[in-house]
Amino acid sequence: MRLTILGGGGFRVPLVHRALLADEGPGRVTDLVLHDLDAGRLRTIGRVLEDATRTHGGAGPRVHLETDLETALAGADFVFSAIRVGGLAGRVCDERSALDLGVLGQETTGAGGVCYGLRTVPVAMQIAETVRRVAPEAYVINFTNPAGMVTEAMSRILGDRVVGICDSPVGMFKRVARALGVSPDEAVFDYAGLNHLGWLRRVTVAGEDLLPGLLADPAALLRTEEGRLFGPDWLATLGAVPNEYLWYWYYRSDAVAAEQAAGHTRGELLLEQQQEFWAEGPGAPGEAFAGWEQARLQREATYMAESREATGAGEREQEDLDGGGYDRVALQLMRAIARDEATTLILNVPNRGTIAGLDTDAVVEVPCSVDAQGWRPHAVDPLDPHAFGLVSTMKAVERTTVQAALSGSYATATKALALHPLVGSVTVARGILDSQLTALPELRSVLR
Ligand code: G6P
Ligand code: MN
Repeated sequence: MRLTILGGGGFRVPLVHRALLADEGPGRVTDLVLHDLDAGRLRTIGRVLEDATRTHGGAGPRVHLETDLETALAGADFVFSAIRVGGLAGRVCDERSALDLGVLGQETTGAGGVCYGLRTVPVAMQIAETVRRVAPEAYVINFTNPAGMVTEAMSRILGDRVVGICDSPVGMFKRVARALGVSPDEAVFDYAGLNHLGWLRRVTVAGEDLLPGLLADPAALLRTEEGRLFGPDWLATLGAVPNEYLWYWYYRSDAVAAEQAAGHTRGELLLEQQQEFWAEGPGAPGEAFAGWEQARLQREATYMAESREATGAGEREQEDLDGGGYDRVALQLMRAIARDEATTLILNVPNRGTIAGLDTDAVVEVPCSVDAQGWRPHAVDPLDPHAFGLVSTMKAVERTTVQAALSGSYATATKALALHPLVGSVTVARGILDSQLTALPELRSVLR
């Protein structure tokens, strides 16, 4: 079993590797190929994995480091795609170019997501083409953001061989289950929408929907991050629990004010942390990574507490900070397919009639059954009219972004930004695009 990770120099790769080391079952990954454009980062991560393997007693997948995409993908059974086109500097630019004009700058939501998509989609298409050529049987598990948009674009080439994932819904389910005093495994969660734009509408345990009871219990809601973030009253009014990213929609002006008041964006903080890691990283003994990871999580908690104070969300529970959310979802999905271990996961897949009113190819985020045959979306209730409005508007924005990225049209890119309700002005759209074009060579090569 050969697993290729694109973005293999990423600092979350050791977490995936750790999970693979623990797996001794049949059908486990025997060859792990790490691909990255940055050979230095690749070597560093390679050394961290070597240390981890040694500490583990020497067994584990063979690790291959590769900077050539085609070689990395050839013969892969599974591909995890977790790339960041333009790096963290690009993320900082997405956040700042928007905030400077008074609108939300965020990795995936608002103008930031459109800008990130513009420079990512062409690279994602190139990856999809290469997979189709050198590993046509492979499944691509895409966590590259904006995950819904990127998955839909790749599915034009790869069809059902690409699936998008996110750790956000499953994190919410865990928090909601904890507040209800049930195990997430015994509950059925009715969740639907787009990536980072979905709603939990029902939590059924033994045939009974427990969500109305929770929504009527402010004290219990306040034990969840969503309760603190959105406020129990608003959740009761909505009659659903929105994905945490909907905070940017329901509390739009508060969100912009909080981002502006923070003094630094999330990207700026991560850039600082990771520069430290890459500076200290090379040659570090195995324990150094664990220590660094611990320190990073600690600092992240401090930052979150700071910025979450403004939102009222409060601190994240330690369990939510433990990391590995993505890795867990990706590995679960891979095992379900490879070993025919049937399971239910929230995935980003083509709609095929699941959400009423959206066309068949629209990639949506819904519960799916997964096994060796692949994935099948579950039937879900129609979206509430206001949710449907948001979802269909954002699907149009996503598709306009993809069209701009593939045609290289400045006018279409302006249109994608201007149509985004969180941008809300053609003038602002042009201003953001122009500062992006000045700052980012990765965008200049897309919008010719
Ligand atoms: C969650 C989201 C991801 C997002 C990440 C940002 O996991 O589901 O889509 O990329 O948060 O995390 P970061 O630590 O980079 O801000
Ligand atoms: Mn996500």
